[in-house]
Amino acid sequence: MPIIGINYEKCNSCRMCIKECPRRFFIDESNNRVFFEDVDNTCNLCGHCIAICPEDAILYEGFGDDTFTFEGIDKLETVVPYESFYKFIRATRSIRHYKRREVPKETLKKVLDIMQYAPTANNLQYEKYVVISDREKLKNISDAVIETLTRNPGMKAQYEENFNIRKKYFEVPVFHDAPHVIFVYSLLDMPVTDHNIGIIITYGRLAAQSLGLGTCWIGWVQIAALESKKVMKLAGIRGKHMGAFTIGYPNITYKRCPPRSRKPVKGLKLE
Ligand SMILES: Cc1cc2nc3c(=O)[nH]c(=O)nc-3n(C[C@H](O)[C@H](O)[C@H](O)COP(=O)(O)O)c2cc1C
Repeated sequence: MPIIGINYEKCNSCRMCIKECPRRFFIDESNNRVFFEDVDNTCNLCGHCIAICPEDAILYEGFGDDTFTFEGIDKLETVVPYESFYKFIRATRSIRHYKRREVPKETLKKVLDIMQYAPTANNLQYEKYVVISDREKLKNISDAVIETLTRNPGMKAQYEENFNIRKKYFEVPVFHDAPHVIFVYSLLDMPVTDHNIGIIITYGRLAAQSLGLGTCWIGWVQIAALESKKVMKLAGIRGKHMGAFTIGYPNITYKRCPPRSRKPVKGLKLE
């Protein structure tokens, strides 16, 4: 059990852990002490007790990496003010033109590291990751995706012409000739699994952007994978849920952020 108790030499009985724990594993003892009890071993390791404790008194083991703090942790708006965040988000584009240059392993590791801090339902963190950098392998997956999407009469009309054009400009059309593709998949078949994967990919894409990299979500693979086991097999992934995005140095820059239509929001007058 990773939370193993409380260091009473440090604990000031503030009871913040009791209020914070989503599962109510911290108990208020009559002798003015708090203790941790997880009879069923169902603590989901969210670590909120560790994060909240003003005295750093929560005892834990085997929890993954170490805790981390920094100046401004209690005022995150000073770390990334809305104005900077707004520009960053508005200017983030799906990149479909890449330099051939490979991304150093250390940089890819930074992206994957951020992806593993994405929230997941019940903090299950059940997702698995595959990075493919072998062009031949990516070409085989790309071919299998195109074959699957254009074989299906319902999808042929939508995809055939598009891929015929793309084939003229790209060796690996589905992946825009990017040097790497990151796949995220899960063997857990739950309604929230696709949400988890989507959030993880979004974290990865934003991390990549902050490192000067470009990315593009490749839903084509996801759609083809639903139809064809070959796509999954070639990518070395299993299960019913997956997502993929390309990553590399962009060979393009943008001069302005495109407009987006505004959707009405029920319950809040925006105009
Ligand atoms: C779930 C999802 C799947 C996508 N699939 C593809 C894809 O298969 N191929 C592609 O070139 N772009 C894909 N995109 C990129 C979208 O086309 C792109 O986000 C949209 O046109 C807006 O452009 P922007 O991301 O530059 O703002 C996908 C985006 C999302 C969110």
